[in-house]
Amino acid sequence: MYDPKLYREACGYFLRPHTKKIINYYSNLLNWNQNENILEIGCGDGSTTIEVLVDLISKNVSNFNYLATDLLQPMINLAKNDYFHERVQFKQADILDEELWLNYKECFTKIFSILCFMVVPNPTIWVKNIYNVLKQNGQIFLILTSTNPMMKQHLSLSQQEKWSKYQKSNLFLSDYFLSDNPTSWITQHLKNGGFKDIQQYEIVYDTNLKDFKSAMQFVKAFTSLNENIPEELKDEYLNEMCENIEKEVLNDEKYSYISYDFITARK
Ligand SMILES: C[S@@+](CC[C@H](N)C(=O)[O-])C[C@H]1O[C@@H](n2cnc3c(N)ncnc32)[C@H](O)[C@@H]1O
Repeated sequence: MYDPKLYREACGYFLRPHTKKIINYYSNLLNWNQNENILEIGCGDGSTTIEVLVDLISKNVSNFNYLATDLLQPMINLAKNDYFHERVQFKQADILDEELWLNYKECFTKIFSILCFMVVPNPTIWVKNIYNVLKQNGQIFLILTSTNPMMKQHLSLSQQEKWSKYQKSNLFLSDYFLSDNPTSWITQHLKNGGFKDIQQYEIVYDTNLKDFKSAMQFVKAFTSLNENIPEELKDEYLNEMCENIEKEVLNDEKYSYISYDFITARK
């Protein structure tokens, strides 16, 4: 799905700085308690967890526990290896695992998830799981990206005859990306799952992926883009993607923009 080390590097180009700006800008929407028990879903390599989220929480809460989870053991290994914080535990866990999360019923006061739910299928299951593990009146904070140059190209190439036969089961998994209106798609799922006081904001920034080289440096971390493609064609797929990004940006400089959905809600 990801190369963890390359992901950490790629994330530093714009994803982590953008996330930091968004979290800090909307931090007034967070109502802190003296004691917080916090869950993060899809923490990845741990850099955003420690450098952005835990950094903010430490400035606002004196007593907190933080459970940072991710589907991929290699991501958790990298996080554990490079980041130690006495209040943070990194753990491999799948948010779609219904049995596991029964053990955490109404445990958490806040749930964070950054750039994760757009790659998780079965929204009914993950919405149910996060609802059940949240305490009454607890808050969720989610950031997703609905459109960016890499995904625009991935969706477009995956429809071409040459690539469609390999990519049928690999569209980055969530219908969020395929929806005409991703923001209302996700808020509707949250509403159906029982969440209230839903607020959502769309934020647009520039990725600066404007030429072949910068695009390639970024996309090669996302191994799920071409994981179903035969080994000998993988490079060709990524080359085509990055050449197209460069061409599209020459036509329209806004092609390199990335759009984020920031969503908060309460149980
Ligand atoms: C784009 S990365 C974001 C990582 C990190 N939050 C950040 O902001 O850099 C998405 C993460 O979601 C994780 N993920 C995907 N499906 C998941 C699932 N079913 N349960 C938990 N984590 C999942 C992936 O392993 C990956 O680390």
